[in-house]
Amino acid sequence: MSPKPLRKVVIPVAGLGTRVLPATKSIPKELLPVVDRPLIDYVAEEARRAGLADLVLVTGRGKGAIEDYFDHAFELEEALKGKQKNEILNDVLATVPTAGTVTYTRQQAPLGLGHAVWCAREIVGDEPFAIALPDEISAGAPGLLSELAEAYAEVGGNIIAVEEVPNEETSKYGVISPKGRRGDLIEIDGMVEKPKPADAPSNFRIIGRYVLQPEIFELLETQERGAGGEIQLTDSMMTLTDRQPFHARICATGIHDCGSKLGWLKANVDMALKRDDVGPGLTDFLKSV
Ligand code: G1P
Repeated sequence: MSPKPLRKVVIPVAGLGTRVLPATKSIPKELLPVVDRPLIDYVAEEARRAGLADLVLVTGRGKGAIEDYFDHAFELEEALKGKQKNEILNDVLATVPTAGTVTYTRQQAPLGLGHAVWCAREIVGDEPFAIALPDEISAGAPGLLSELAEAYAEVGGNIIAVEEVPNEETSKYGVISPKGRRGDLIEIDGMVEKPKPADAPSNFRIIGRYVLQPEIFELLETQERGAGGEIQLTDSMMTLTDRQPFHARICATGIHDCGSKLGWLKANVDMALKRDDVGPGLTDFLKSV
């Protein structure tokens, strides 16, 4: 029997962006540009490519500009039409999703990723869903969500994206405990949030892309605070590994962590180098510095 289709992706966007302040003092970090598109736009495109038609944004205070980004900008569009700047107009229009495919709910207090995901429970309902953390963007094809959707079609259950990191970096991430491995699919029997290198069960860290079954919501409902005093998604997923099939997919798509200053800079350089319009000019510039 093929697994229940995936339609929705939950995108938590309530975070404060503390690692890139003061840039994020008055703009949501999800709207920081990489070349000429905001981070959230890369994630929306990644979701579309993976066949996830419905975006569920868990937003918060001061994040209203994200909703404006996914809507028509009437005056701007009219002004561009008047000036016959059709190419730019088309780029602007392409950011507007089909009506009704983006839903918003608000996380009213910064209680952690687990709490943010739990806030989406009524919108997601009783079906499997994906999660994408917009700090991290796919550096190329096929895209992290496409890889997860492909693995999900094969094995069903719960699947998270992972990559190998140096041992000393485990304390920055969720880390899985692998049980068995077949190609790039790892069977998981546990995971831990931000372990010290000496306590890490492996050096496969969790990337911000997940496919989960709706039973996760019941676990999040009563989840106690964990690492950093926050309600951690990793802790509830850990409990779910005892009850349901749980896999990790070692992703081939490169990743940029734009939640850090250096990661965001690298993303800009890498994405710009891949483009025909600005890539050659940037290559010349980089040779000259
Ligand atoms: C979150 C998750 C962590 C994961 C990381 C990926 O941590 O809790 O398990 O490895 O995202 O970006 P955060 O970056 O919110 O501290």
